[in-house]
Amino acid sequence: MDIKNLISQMTIEEKASLCSGADFWHTKAVERLGIPQMMVSDGPHGLRKQDLTKENFNESIKAVCFPAACALACSFDKDLIFRLGQALGNQCQAEDVGVILGPGANIKRSPLCGRNFEYFSEDPYLASNIAASHIKGVQSKNVGTSLKHFLANNQENRRMSVSAEISERTLHEIYLAAFETAVREAKPWTVMCSYNRVNGEYSSENHWSLTEILREKWGFDGFVVSDWGAVNDRVKGLPAGLDLEMPSSGGVNDAKLAEAVRDGKLPEKALDLACERILTIVDRYLSGRDEKAVWDKEADHELSAEISAQCMVLLKNEDEILPLSKDKKIAFIGKFAEKPRYQGGGSSHINSFKVTDALTASAKYAKVSYAQGYDTAEDVTDQALLDEAVKLAAESDVAVVFAGLTDLFESEGFDRTHMGIPNCQNQLIEKICDVQPNTVVVLHNGSPVEMPWLSRVKGVLECYLGGQAVGQAQCRILFGEEAPSGKLAETFPKKLSDNPSFLNFPGEGDRVEYREEIFVGYRYYDYKDMDVLFPFGFGLSYTTFEYTDMKVSADSFSPDEGLEVRVTVKNTGKMAGREAVQLYVSDCESSVIRPVKELKGFEKIYLEPGQSGEVVFRLDRRSFTFYSEKIHDWFAESGDFCIMIGSSSRDIRLSKTITMVSQETLPFRADPNTTMGDIMDNEKARPYIQPLIDDYVKAMNLDGDMTELGEATKLMMEAQLRDNPLRVMVSFTDGRFTHEDIARICNEINGEFSK
Ligand code: BGC
Repeated sequence: MDIKNLISQMTIEEKASLCSGADFWHTKAVERLGIPQMMVSDGPHGLRKQDLTKENFNESIKAVCFPAACALACSFDKDLIFRLGQALGNQCQAEDVGVILGPGANIKRSPLCGRNFEYFSEDPYLASNIAASHIKGVQSKNVGTSLKHFLANNQENRRMSVSAEISERTLHEIYLAAFETAVREAKPWTVMCSYNRVNGEYSSENHWSLTEILREKWGFDGFVVSDWGAVNDRVKGLPAGLDLEMPSSGGVNDAKLAEAVRDGKLPEKALDLACERILTIVDRYLSGRDEKAVWDKEADHELSAEISAQCMVLLKNEDEILPLSKDKKIAFIGKFAEKPRYQGGGSSHINSFKVTDALTASAKYAKVSYAQGYDTAEDVTDQALLDEAVKLAAESDVAVVFAGLTDLFESEGFDRTHMGIPNCQNQLIEKICDVQPNTVVVLHNGSPVEMPWLSRVKGVLECYLGGQAVGQAQCRILFGEEAPSGKLAETFPKKLSDNPSFLNFPGEGDRVEYREEIFVGYRYYDYKDMDVLFPFGFGLSYTTFEYTDMKVSADSFSPDEGLEVRVTVKNTGKMAGREAVQLYVSDCESSVIRPVKELKGFEKIYLEPGQSGEVVFRLDRRSFTFYSEKIHDWFAESGDFCIMIGSSSRDIRLSKTITMVSQETLPFRADPNTTMGDIMDNEKARPYIQPLIDDYVKAMNLDGDMTELGEATKLMMEAQLRDNPLRVMVSFTDGRFTHEDIARICNEINGEFSK
């Protein structure tokens, strides 16, 4: 396609019209110029392709449902997610879909967000790297992705209008960071802007996020598409960076664009640019079109099972209750054993061509009895179902209860109101524990749940929403065909009120203030040294791993050199297994408040029993910096950092302290209201106030005999000195310094910093 030439032949109306969808799922064609349509479809964990020519066009084609994002992130496995992406890309080629609408990289700020199941993690490094692998996989098949929902769409409540009020530092360290690596490294073809507002500005017309950050800082070169119906002011949105409006406004907004160009309110070149970006992607897809692509659904179903098994997180395994011994009397209890909840409701809902439940899958391994236990239609205990389940549990050697959230408790479109699973299920588990000491709970949910029965059960297997082959995957783990290897991509707090967003979720009216700032998830629980139910990065295995031989490439380094960290991991158990090795960085001393530690690397390694392998991490400048609002940029502050290698965020196996030597400094300005402490802490500024300090010490007799005054008074005086604004020193130095002297000292300090 000679894109520039084509655009030059288009009328203003044609150009404006190209900037919105033809229908729900297609870009527009311009027949007279031979410009074809391109189809887009949801996303993210399967293909939800709808056929608008069918009478019931809401029903999408039969497809393969992979595990949802909440599960995928627990794999901590970039290669595995890349393979998932490849499969999705291939499906798109086979179905002639040019862009799949996902992945979603939004931070799981609160366990209550109804759409958490579509998001990866509470940690931006994990979320962005997993998203990057997903995107790279899909796009390796020459199909585009749409990284969504940019930005700060962390709740469903009033998602179309709420303003997420977030500080600059928090945006950069948490909410933008979740998208940044995915954009910089994986180069998604498109980005989908979110419905909500950020600090008052709709994402669909936010020049700062869509242009200054996304394009100018991160180098994004695809097109931005609105979330479906996210456009507020189309004429403002286009030059802000929103290229394509979806689905369409039936021509209403196109007309507004054309009129604005004609009235001189919108430069025509802004319209040209949006058309160019859209056509570049349409052309990229068409020129890499693979008409021979074959979608082997059975093979993808097996892949879905493989992925699902590698995402499951074993949370508890007392007395090695798992894997199940096949010769014991095993009862599967709970409707989810027969009808698993394996995906969430809403736009990501896949019309699975088949579903494997655990009960059916178990036939390959053992003879299993079954009782339904509860119903999912409403949260009401059905006494007959309960009695039948308790009787079966009592007659068995082990009871495996399949439980979790139903669609009534968690979905796109609304948030959860509490962190519990249905009461009828909690009651069932308690009653089963009354009669059966060997109880295992298998969970299906998109976000943390409370586990009031945790101390009474011997095992807990967290499956999240495991895709259509979840039952197969569950049996592989339950019967020990493979060892579980997922690790939690989010903290499970003991109770909802422990969560840092608790006081400010979902906000008041159309504003939600992110007052916990950068302390999201484990950043908060660690800083507060709080007990949690299960920490970030936690997950058990059937085998054991030993960590030795940590090597860091230098003891002292400059931010731009970065570092290499190596560690040897050995499988010391009896079974082959995978281990997700995590690297955290902790700033030992910082001029600003920072999390105790932050994830800056993860690698998954497969090891046979007795086998060792080396895991290598590369740390760059960003692994050590924080975002400073003083310079509106990332800042590398000299000092000691502790590199920690862990099996979870709270199971650090090895660590080493190294020193970063940075030439960077933060700007500094002194005025008469600057405190002495702030100046004393600044190496370059401190010498200028030494005479003031000396005089204060003299005037207060701090260097004299302290016995009379007492240590406490001395401490108080010293603390007071730090808190004194410069101007106050006139009063505390016996008149030896005047206000003019203070002004002169400020000038000298500021002169030093302007050199
Ligand atoms: C969702 C998007 C989705 C789109 C198209 C919106 O309501 O927020 O995630 O891709 O619909 O179905």
